[in-house]
Amino acid sequence: MRTPIIAGNWKMFKTVAEAKALAGEVRQAVANIDQVEVVLCPPFTALTAVKEVIDGSKVGLGAQNMYWENQGAFTGEISPLMLAGLCNYVIIGHSERRQFFGETDETVNKKVKAALAHQLLPIVCVGENLAQYEAGETVAFVGSQVKGAFAGLSAEEAAKIVVAYEPIWAIGTGKNAEAAGANNIIASSIRGTLTALYNESVAQKVRVQYGGSVKPDNIEGFMAQPDIDGALVGGASLKADSFAVLIKGALVKFKS
Ligand code: PGA
Repeated sequence: MRTPIIAGNWKMFKTVAEAKALAGEVRQAVANIDQVEVVLCPPFTALTAVKEVIDGSKVGLGAQNMYWENQGAFTGEISPLMLAGLCNYVIIGHSERRQFFGETDETVNKKVKAALAHQLLPIVCVGENLAQYEAGETVAFVGSQVKGAFAGLSAEEAAKIVVAYEPIWAIGTGKNAEAAGANNIIASSIRGTLTALYNESVAQKVRVQYGGSVKPDNIEGFMAQPDIDGALVGGASLKADSFAVLIKGALVKFKS
């Protein structure tokens, strides 16, 4: 079975002091949970501080973005070289980056390749907007985003990637997708596309998270779906108690 993975995307929230406090609470709350991979994605400014707090625990660390060049005159950007050794994961192509900061499938692909070259595991975000959803374009659109993100990757590289399916209309809105419906989209547009690009074995190795208004009261429904391996969580990851409930919710995978 694919190891469930619950990641907290703290977005542009938490000062360094707040991030340290939250990371400490999460570390404590999940100390006895071995079967679920937990990843915290604080802002860049808090990565080092959070790393110190979670050091020696199984809690992993992710960045929320990065540029693809190793170094250079790119004011305000952070490179894979700077994240390597600090983080295990990096979120790439979050819909907010695509929407507000001009990221495209091409830049996502460059970032994915740069991350893998530095042993950073990409969490690649895909997902349709409301108009595409209502027009029935979801499967084709998400499939095209997957193709763009994985372009030029070997099967071995592809299998390491985590994909987060996040319908844009569900992010931060309290309007989560219906679990079985999200599972069908993941099966067809993500695993189906990966089967076409590579083979069934790669498609079955890639871990796929659902994201978009995941909350303590709906996590088990998502995690009970066969093609959903975890969650990328914004709002509900900002408090240790609700985030801990989500992580425990992933244990539904191990109930027969
Ligand atoms: P949300 O955000 O859980 O607050 O909807 C999810 C995300 O943007 O990754």
